[in-house]
Amino acid sequence: MQLLRVLQSQGFGVRRACRDLIETGRVKVNGVRVLEPDFECAMTALTLTLDDQDWAYREQVYLALHKPVGFECSRQAQHHPSVFSLLPALFLERGVQPVGRLDQDSSGLLLLSDDGDFIHRYTSPKKEIGKRYRVVCKHPVSEEQIAALLGGVLLRDETAPIAARGCTRVSENVIDLGIAEGKYHQVKRMLAAAGNRVESLQRTRIGGYALPSDLEAGQWRYLEEADLASLAETVAAAVPSA
Ligand code: URA
Repeated sequence: MQLLRVLQSQGFGVRRACRDLIETGRVKVNGVRVLEPDFECAMTALTLTLDDQDWAYREQVYLALHKPVGFECSRQAQHHPSVFSLLPALFLERGVQPVGRLDQDSSGLLLLSDDGDFIHRYTSPKKEIGKRYRVVCKHPVSEEQIAALLGGVLLRDETAPIAARGCTRVSENVIDLGIAEGKYHQVKRMLAAAGNRVESLQRTRIGGYALPSDLEAGQWRYLEEADLASLAETVAAAVPSA
């Protein structure tokens, strides 16, 4: 692929901007400065260097972000900063989108990608991707409430009850809750329907992929092959028990 197109595909800017980067000597290909925009790049093990910072070429990107409380998932955030302000600008440039959403006041694992099929696969209601949440409740969680969550609660505007796919107590007011759907405010609405109230919510797992314990709030990392494989297993299989 031509160097100019490679830079554009990676989110380094529009055609004119990428051409300028190359012609002003700011780009190296596998360690060698290249000044011709139409230079043909060999695509295997391609490393780009922009202003002495290395970027491995990735045809598509898959990211895990530890979303902090106080950020909105939309690109055009309304009332709070966008999660995109936590990511390098070139991800936005290359069309990365959140895979599902977390509320502004929720934290935890948020996947992002520019692979449309991947986004569809992990957000389609038909696939029933398991998600797990650490839920801090306003009131002590009773055994009856846990039974109600596991048995199914009827949410407003829904016609059939929705059951948690796992619910374990962590402490008096804290539970780990597994769900298979991704309905609007689902966990908050489920806890409300069970007679409690969510004080704080953290997504700790999607499918077989857990929020890495060393990924601090506000940090992101690439999902590598092994991470994608653990996610993919649970597309076909089921929800992890909480
Ligand atoms: N359920 C909610 O109520 N909020 C979230 O952010 C995620 C799941």
